Amino acid sequence: MSPLMHNDAFNQLGIDGHYHAFDIEEGDLKEAIAAFKVLNVSGFNVTIPHKVKVMEFLDEIDEEAKMIGAVNTVVNNNGRLIGYNTDGRGYLSSLLTVIQKPILESNVLVIGAGGASRAVVTAICDHGVKKLALTNRTLEKAKEIKNNYNNYNKCNNTSMDIVSLKEAEANIEVYDIIINTTSIGMSPNVEGIPIAVDHIKRNVVLSDLIYNPLKTRWLQLGEEKGAIIHNGVGMFAMQGALAFHKWTGIEPDTKRMMNKVITQLG
Ligand code: ATR
Repeated sequence: MSPLMHNDAFNQLGIDGHYHAFDIEEGDLKEAIAAFKVLNVSGFNVTIPHKVKVMEFLDEIDEEAKMIGAVNTVVNNNGRLIGYNTDGRGYLSSLLTVIQKPILESNVLVIGAGGASRAVVTAICDHGVKKLALTNRTLEKAKEIKNNYNNYNKCNNTSMDIVSLKEAEANIEVYDIIINTTSIGMSPNVEGIPIAVDHIKRNVVLSDLIYNPLKTRWLQLGEEKGAIIHNGVGMFAMQGALAFHKWTGIEPDTKRMMNKVITQLG
């Protein structure tokens, strides 16, 4: 999906650029990155499973990417490779397009404690919300995230509570925004839902990072209960747009990027 989105943006903007996808084995990562340097590419994205490992081979890591613990975008700055993570900001800018109540006045629940959760929590923390609660099947992992954030100076104004899935479900009506960062509901296992939505508040925003399917069963159930729903396509397009801007200095048409992905996914 990324080559499709970026190459279309290059064409549209008349930039003589190309975005290629390469399959790189873990054992070849160091050499592949050295090769990108030699070839003097403007930059590259990194995806699963290399987002963490790649950090060893870069010259500099941006503070936000360090906090997230993963890099998805690399910029070649005159031969110095600098690692960034645009997932969290990409997510947040997409979320901000659908919410009605100001996020600074919102109670937010994040479900999951993997890499995607860390990206989302970092961006939310940076921005600030009224209250942030984090839940996960394995609560220890959520606690680890909270401990890390205690050392992150940008998070001073946002309080973070760790709650069990059971507690979160029992108090589901207090949340204004509920975000699923787990893979529950992702194709091909489309039946699962991360948390019950029977007692959600009216006009709650249910946000799922998944974009395949475009509407998970969880979002479908939420919509039937009157929730505003938000899928992961916007995050995908926005993280790409932020990377594109870092490489070219030009802001691409993010709506067009999003539509490319939606058309491709059918
Ligand atoms: P990512 O980097 O995409 O976030 P990850 O690091 O593997 O992926 O994290 C996956 C998240 O989905 C975790 O929060 C995981 O919960 P655990 O920490 O308890 O493993 C959650 N997850 C995945 N499958 C799940 C399932 N069937 N039930 C509950 N949680 C699940």
